[in-house]
Amino acid sequence: MKLTETINSPATTARQVIIDAANWRYATKKFDPAKPLEKDDIDALLNTLRMSPTAFGLQPFHFFVIKNQPLRQELFKYANNQRQVLDSSLFIVFAAKTRFEDDELKAFVNLNAELRNYDTGHKNSKLAKLHAFTAKLSGDELFHWSAKQSYLAMGELISAAALMQSNHTLQWAN
Ligand SMILES: Cc1cc2nc3c(=O)[nH]c(=O)nc-3n(C[C@H](O)[C@H](O)[C@H](O)COP(=O)(O)O)c2cc1C
Repeated sequence: MKLTETINSPATTARQVIIDAANWRYATKKFDPAKPLEKDDIDALLNTLRMSPTAFGLQPFHFFVIKNQPLRQELFKYANNQRQVLDSSLFIVFAAKTRFEDDELKAFVNLNAELRNYDTGHKNSKLAKLHAFTAKLSGDELFHWSAKQSYLAMGELISAAALMQSNHTLQWAN
């Protein structure tokens, strides 16, 4: 039974949907380029990345949707020549941050202050905490901190893909 049919059945519980999606999910080894994802599905998947939880809410990564085929060809080499890099409908590269500029931290705190109505004292203390935290870590330590959080976001993405029955492969390249 397709997961969509399960979800649409009035007798289905959220628990059952989660169990079925987890049992259905698998790492795809061969994608069919003739069956692209729909734009709405891609948007829903990317939204899980945007909304994923991170320490301080800082989202210490960038994710890049690579559509350009020559660039995919270039990246293919760094993924052990695995064809999923060339054939997948949605190809996302995660870049974990290794440093935070002052302006970036300020912009982040300003946005939070605006959205959450911080007073000036609270805003300044948040900024000081972020400065202190990021300043005490080396570039390497920040990379590991950021990379772990990238994996959390990837996990969210994979679960969402399983719920939509659009499958995934994770590939690791340094
Ligand atoms: C960190 C990580 C790296 C992975 N790298 C690859 C990869 O390079 N190529 C690939 O085909 N699958 C990759 N996988 C998928 C695993 O091979 C797959 O999840 C595992 O064999 C279990 O199979 P399943 O996910 O289909 O249940 C990776 C998974 C993880 C978590």
